[in-house]
Amino acid sequence: MMTQDIFFTTKVASGKTFCNLIQERERLLNNISKGQHTVVVAPRRYGKTSLVCYVLEESEVLYGKIDLFCAVYEKDICDKISRAVSKVVNRILPFSQKAIKLIEQYFKNTSIGIKAGQFELKIEAARASFDPSQQIQDLLEGLEGLAEKNNQKIVLFFDEFQDLLKADDSLKLQAAIRAVAQVSRHVVYIFSGSSRVMLKKIFENRNQPLYMLCNKIILERISVEALSQHIQAAAEARWRKSLNTEQITEILALTETHPYYTNMLCDKVFDHKKLPVIADINRCWDECLLEQYDKIIADLFPLNTNRLKVLTQMALFGPIAEPNSKAFLDCTGLALGSLQKAIDYLMDYDYLYKSTEGYTLVDPLMKKFIILKTAVDS
Ligand SMILES: Nc1ncnc2c1ncn2[C@@H]1O[C@H](COP(=O)(O)OP(=O)(O)O)[C@@H](O)[C@H]1O
Ligand SMILES: [Mg+2]
Repeated sequence: MMTQDIFFTTKVASGKTFCNLIQERERLLNNISKGQHTVVVAPRRYGKTSLVCYVLEESEVLYGKIDLFCAVYEKDICDKISRAVSKVVNRILPFSQKAIKLIEQYFKNTSIGIKAGQFELKIEAARASFDPSQQIQDLLEGLEGLAEKNNQKIVLFFDEFQDLLKADDSLKLQAAIRAVAQVSRHVVYIFSGSSRVMLKKIFENRNQPLYMLCNKIILERISVEALSQHIQAAAEARWRKSLNTEQITEILALTETHPYYTNMLCDKVFDHKKLPVIADINRCWDECLLEQYDKIIADLFPLNTNRLKVLTQMALFGPIAEPNSKAFLDCTGLALGSLQKAIDYLMDYDYLYKSTEGYTLVDPLMKKFIILKTAVDS
């Protein structure tokens, strides 16, 4: 087996591919044991799913995971929740006639099926009386009741929670979750999602039902030290030799410690039979760009001219500590109001983030793409 399969992944990081995040893990674990609901927020591909799944597996708590990615239809959302709740119910209650009675007692508005000796909580969306928010409330209340009866701690993990904002009647669905979560004592809720929009719209806006319910974990990039150690351990296992500081610094300078890209680049670098030199690392990074080309174009597509102007100037001259300065305004050719609007959008949708040195692009390959394009065009 090749070592890179063990240390680097572009899927969910687990086992040996999981690097560090000790503080975040401790905090999440502590929240779970206290019964404190949590929201984990970070841009896409920063490691939210990996963090939460790692902690859930590590803690051995009973959990259900609901991935709301692109689930815009209320019925689909109900289905996903019912599947996760069914899975947990089956873990708590071994199949028996008595168990059926108990489940019927707790899930009053949900029909119960049996498939291959497993309970199935079924959504009947075709029924005239079907009400998605009531259905969600019934499922979650039922689970809380059953957990209480069995004195069992359960975690429900809603991943990609920002997509709930796209659902019809999103506010009602949020209200249903809120109604149960705010009184639940046995079921702990973890929400994770990308983009500040979610944070602002769902968790920080006083008019939104989930306001104030959660402890927030803002996931930052993994530290240079932790990533260096991780890469070095992989090098020892792969080549029985250490990489020079220069090579590790080059990898992390190219990826700007972005977790996904660090894995993507290392995965290629570690394909080399011999210890790689700087030129090999740069060649691998070029390959990463080629592979991501279409995705970057798709990501840039929704941006209007002003946003593209700002992103381009940030890519060329960033990090920008003072974007409102005359120098940067001149650079973009925009009026102050338009510039601020563009930055707000780019921040809200995770194109930009604020590092210690100033505003810069979240995606290091997007930055490379823009720089190359600008050089070719000029
Ligand atoms: N703790 C970690 N250690 C090492 N790599 C990680 C870690 N967390 C995330 N990654 C890398 O980042 C990528 C995205 O992780 P993921 O958990 O899917 O992010 P998100 O849920 O924020 O989109 C993974 O495929 C992996 O390459
Ligand atoms: Mg994820």
